[in-house]
Amino acid sequence: MKKIIEISAVSHTFDDGYVGIKNISLSIFKGEFIIIAGKNGSGKTTFLRHLNGLLKPDSGCLTVNGCDVKTNLIQTRKTIGMVFQDADTQIVGDTVFDEVAFGLENLKFNRAKINEKVTSVLKNLNLFHLKDRAPFTLSGGEKRRLAIAGVLVMDPQVIVFDEPFSNLDYPGTIQVLATIIDLNRSDHTIIIATHDVETVIYDATRIIIMEEGLIKEDGAPADIVRLLESCGIKEPCSSKFGLGIQPWLT
Ligand SMILES: Nc1ncnc2c1ncn2[C@@H]1O[C@H](COP(=O)(O)OP(=O)(O)OP(=O)(O)O)[C@@H](O)[C@H]1O
Ligand SMILES: [Mg+2]
Repeated sequence: MKKIIEISAVSHTFDDGYVGIKNISLSIFKGEFIIIAGKNGSGKTTFLRHLNGLLKPDSGCLTVNGCDVKTNLIQTRKTIGMVFQDADTQIVGDTVFDEVAFGLENLKFNRAKINEKVTSVLKNLNLFHLKDRAPFTLSGGEKRRLAIAGVLVMDPQVIVFDEPFSNLDYPGTIQVLATIIDLNRSDHTIIIATHDVETVIYDATRIIIMEEGLIKEDGAPADIVRLLESCGIKEPCSSKFGLGIQPWLT
């Protein structure tokens, strides 16, 4: 398997002296579907923000396709798309269409190509009927899908989702989950931070458990599933009742 991301002994201390992540080392390979699980405050978001250079390590280093993230921010952000925990913070466009077109405009794509790509992504995420709406008027679930659209249109190799299902209703969760599964099937590497693993565990190839800024466990879902509750993460019901890991989408 091709290695995409290499993280070597990365630590991050915030300005107030709090150590957010401690000495994290791991390799991420093309096509993996990784769950980063952990209680509130365990360091998941802090870790993810290092992957595309939003936070810088105070020791250690990260490389993406062999290039240091620190000195290759633009290339890193083309390779790794990030859907944030709070979709509102990502919004910059006046309309849903402009919001999704923004990244392509920055890359100087021609108008016809922009229209084609944006239309296709909006249709895929069931947002096309909202294309002329102001993003701030969308519901929480629609905003989440818009944030995903803005990332997908750039076609990154790796897509990082921070709590993608929080505040989504059942159909919204199904839609986002189906989108994520499709992306992984089309060779994208997926990294999802969540404290609720039940929705995605069946499709995951690996689970990393974080605790107090450290990696506590890292392995195949079948091996990690029984350790979840000792780390404050709910074990899926099917596993608890001896039925193994079952798909959430039936
Ligand atoms: N800018 C900051 N300054 C000081 N401490 C911070 C800062 N940002 C985050 N922290 C602290 O670092 C710890 C890890 O936060 P982080 O947001 O990474 O957790 P998380 O695992 O994503 O939690 P959640 O499940 O609630 O999203 C928390 O205790 C948080 O309060
Ligand atoms: Mg978080």
